[in-house]
Amino acid sequence: MSQSLASIQAPIAFEMKEFEKKFRQLMKSKVLLLDKIMGYIVKRKGKQMRPMFVFLSAGVSGKISESTYRGASLIELLHTATLVHDDVVDDANYRRGFFSINALWKNKIAVLVGDYLLSRGLLLSVDHGDFDLLRLVSQAVREMSEGELLQMEKAKKLDITESIYFDIIRQKTASLISSCCGVGAISGGADEKSIAQMTLFGEKIGMAFQIKDDLFDYGSTKIGKPLGIDIKEKKMTLPLIYSLKEASSNDQKRIKRIVKNNNSRNKNVQQVIAFVKESGGIDYAHQVMGRYVDEALQILDEFDDSTYKDSLKQMVEYTISRNR
Ligand code: IPE
Ligand code: IPE
Ligand code: MG
Ligand code: MG
Repeated sequence: MSQSLASIQAPIAFEMKEFEKKFRQLMKSKVLLLDKIMGYIVKRKGKQMRPMFVFLSAGVSGKISESTYRGASLIELLHTATLVHDDVVDDANYRRGFFSINALWKNKIAVLVGDYLLSRGLLLSVDHGDFDLLRLVSQAVREMSEGELLQMEKAKKLDITESIYFDIIRQKTASLISSCCGVGAISGGADEKSIAQMTLFGEKIGMAFQIKDDLFDYGSTKIGKPLGIDIKEKKMTLPLIYSLKEASSNDQKRIKRIVKNNNSRNKNVQQVIAFVKESGGIDYAHQVMGRYVDEALQILDEFDDSTYKDSLKQMVEYTISRNR
């Protein structure tokens, strides 16, 4: 059963509306070009799963407060900054169903726009003395950069193992989603144990989230960003890593050669995708994703029942059933 984000939002509908107003305000700039680009970004907002995680985590473990709003804004600002930079790094021309910032304004401007978003996030926290939130989120941003660089190192050598893949996605994606839940709990005034549990819950969801994202690359669903791009970028993800491990040494050589050399050709990408499907790589990734979901739900079980908890459960479900 796939849930819509709008219905999951029911217990935090008011908060999400307020959040959007505040977020739009934060994106303003006196520099005309920047203001225009900020307007473009605000209009094509993403799913806003991270702010939802922040508010729901605050609700489930404490009480939504003013600092919950700032935490949600801080995270969405940094998330947006990393996406703008990520599309430069990945040379991707689409994002959220439209042209990416680098596609429209070129790399130079996209790099500066990403920095601007980052600085707005930092200032928001510093101006209000939200240092505990800022510490948690800054650690996540550090890990994201490390994860991306580890991924690049591995793309060069094509020697990625499953355990390195898990390290990469834990750093580049799960760390920020984990900090969403941690920031929610801290801002809601939760006790140390609940903060730790929510942080762990977010990490599990974040792992499932990125495995799902990597599975999209093998599908044909229109998700608003390029498909098959991982293989083109020599990015080996769980379905391919598993399939290679299980393959004969001839197949290993054949597939690795394609990934290494001819990867910008659509025909070759299709060949790799077919190989992965035949070797059960897709099914395997679904299984692993399911394990992370189970672990997340177990952690959530320890919290008192509430409408927030129901929505968090639905968010877990949505993370792996979503179609964008
Ligand atoms: C995209 O995250 C970046 C990844 C970690 C894969 P989302 O899919 O949550 O992006 P938006 O904000 O909804 O566009
Ligand atoms: C995720 O990386 C983005 C960050 C964590 C910064 P990807 O390159 O895999 O994500 P998409 O698919 O472009 O959103
Ligand atoms: Mg990337
Ligand atoms: Mg990318």
